[in-house]
Amino acid sequence: MKAAYINQTGLAENILYGDLPTPRPSPTQCLVKVGAVSLNPVDTYIRSGMVPMPLPFPFIVGCDLAGTVVEMGPEVKRFKVGERVWGTNQGLLGRQGTFAEFCAVDECWLYPIPSGVSDEQAAAISLVGITAHLGLVRDARLQRGETIFVNGGSGGVGSTVVQMATAIGARVIATAGSDRKVELCRGLGADHLINYKTQNIETELKKIAPAGVNVWWETLREPNFDLAVTSLAARGRMILMAGREARPPFPVGPFYVKGCSLHGFVMFMATPEEQRHSAEDINRWLAEGKLKANIDRVMPLSEAATAHRLQEESTIGKSGMLSGKIVLKP
Ligand SMILES: NC(=O)c1ccc[n+]([C@@H]2O[C@H](COP(=O)([O-])OP(=O)(O)OC[C@H]3O[C@@H](n4cnc5c(N)ncnc54)[C@H](OP(=O)(O)O)[C@@H]3O)[C@@H](O)[C@H]2O)c1
Repeated sequence: MKAAYINQTGLAENILYGDLPTPRPSPTQCLVKVGAVSLNPVDTYIRSGMVPMPLPFPFIVGCDLAGTVVEMGPEVKRFKVGERVWGTNQGLLGRQGTFAEFCAVDECWLYPIPSGVSDEQAAAISLVGITAHLGLVRDARLQRGETIFVNGGSGGVGSTVVQMATAIGARVIATAGSDRKVELCRGLGADHLINYKTQNIETELKKIAPAGVNVWWETLREPNFDLAVTSLAARGRMILMAGREARPPFPVGPFYVKGCSLHGFVMFMATPEEQRHSAEDINRWLAEGKLKANIDRVMPLSEAATAHRLQEESTIGKSGMLSGKIVLKP
């Protein structure tokens, strides 16, 4: 089969595109004929070696996939051959990745694709969808009628958080870095938008939510805790999910006096049961049309190295070039 893989960590150019043996499913795995995959910033950190992982070389890059079950092990219970599935959490913790024509995935990491939803959509929502759901529902316990602030509302995670928070019935305030991205976030359901390049977030938040926000979702790798804690309401919750090297100062006093809480997590450490619970809500919202992946562009899988470079320049280099997800097709 064709696959995008590395023989050692390093630059995006280390990604080769060529033939590897088609995997065989283990007793609990489905062999998925891949229809689409999507790219996440973590894929670039693993490929570069910035986030150390046990990597079975040749290592196929990628976490997300959507496609069709073509074969399965004798112990698989939840799926049938011919069923369309999506999943994430591959290419992590020693598991092979998804950027290939076929992928053997343990059934505990797979979910059915609702009818009417394309492989491109299902792949692009997978990792960011589960991340957004874990943060909003399991950790922040966002309630209908509450106010949430999403710093970075146009990105892969942020655009999903905006839509899910809207589906939950919260009032959503989001930031974006251009007028075009402001309008994109409005289209996703955000009630109030702040252009972080031309407006002052603190001043705008004081006007929009004078009593503070109930949840602050931070997508930046260098959070500004002074601003976040000042802007949180009493018993406010802050979600942290980026910035492994960040060591910013923290305003202890105002934080505990207001009874706030901090919730940090990485989605790939959530259990299969937690992730399946998230996937069930994601599937319901996809089927109801309340959730749609924010896809920036679709590329051939053979251009995986170019896609990695683009993602890296956008997320780490802050080029602003991307607005949402890169999807690739074998
Ligand atoms: N913990 C986990 O499980 C988990 C899961 C997924 C992702 N992550 C991490 O979360 C981060 C975001 O991921 P992603 O996929 O959403 O990346 P992304 O698609 O590249 O989005 C980055 C976002 O940051 C915004 N941004 C950049 N500079 C900003 C600033 N100064 N103020 C406000 N917003 C700013 C961008 O806005 P504009 O484009 O509008 O400028 C964009 O919306 C990454 O570091 C990723 O590794 C963690």
